[in-house]
Amino acid sequence: KTTQSNILAEKLGAVWTKEPGGDEISDEVRRVVQGMKFEIEMDAVCEQYLYAAGRAQTLRRVVKPVLDKAGIVVADRSVFTSMAYQGFGRGLGIERVLKINEEAVDGIWPDLVIWLDTDLETALARTRDQSGDKFERMDKNFFGKVRRGYMEVVRRFPKLVKRVDGNGSVKVVEKRVWSLIAGEIRGRVLTRSI
Ligand code: TMP
Repeated sequence: KTTQSNILAEKLGAVWTKEPGGDEISDEVRRVVQGMKFEIEMDAVCEQYLYAAGRAQTLRRVVKPVLDKAGIVVADRSVFTSMAYQGFGRGLGIERVLKINEEAVDGIWPDLVIWLDTDLETALARTRDQSGDKFERMDKNFFGKVRRGYMEVVRRFPKLVKRVDGNGSVKVVEKRVWSLIAGEIRGRVLTRSI
C-alpha cells in the first residue's frame, strides 16, 4: 500500500501523505493511537476520536492547501480505513464512524479510494511499522472482520471505492492500479463533456 501509493503519487506528480501522520502533530497522534506502550486496551470510541483528530490535522494542514492550488494528493489511508477497522474490526459500525468523523473530514472527501485487497499472510509478511503497530498483533478473526468491512464499504460507495487485487509483484499491482486510474480519468472526462 505504501509502496504503491508512492509510485502513484510520483506518476501523477501528486503530493503523498498518510494517515495518521503527515506532520509533527498527527505523527504524535499516530504514536498514541497505534503505539504499543499501553498495558490496557484502548477503548474503540477513544481510538476513533484519536484517528479522527489526526485526520482533522492532516486534511486541513497538509491536504487542503494542495487541493486549493488545484494539486493532487495521494493519501496512504483515509476515513474509509476507519470504516473498516473501527467500524467493523472494532464493531462501532459505519454510522458511528461517520458521525465521529464528520467534523474531522468536513467535506474534504477523496475523489477515488483504492482498496488493495491482499491475502492476509502476504499482507502481514510485507511490512512492519518500525515504530510498532498494535493492530499487527491482532488475530485472523480481527482482520477477517476488517476485510468484510472493506467489502461493505465497496458495496456502499461503489462509485468512490474500488477494489484492486493487491497480490503479486510490485510491477503487476502497479499496472492494475494504473489501469483503474486511467479508466476513471477517461470515464470522468467523458461524463463531464456529455
Ligand atoms: P499503516 O502504516 O500500515 O497504514 O498502519 C496504520 C494502522 O492504523 C493500521 O493498522 C490501520 C490503523 N488505522 C485504523 O485503525 N484506523 C484508521 O482510521 C487509520 C487511518 C489507520
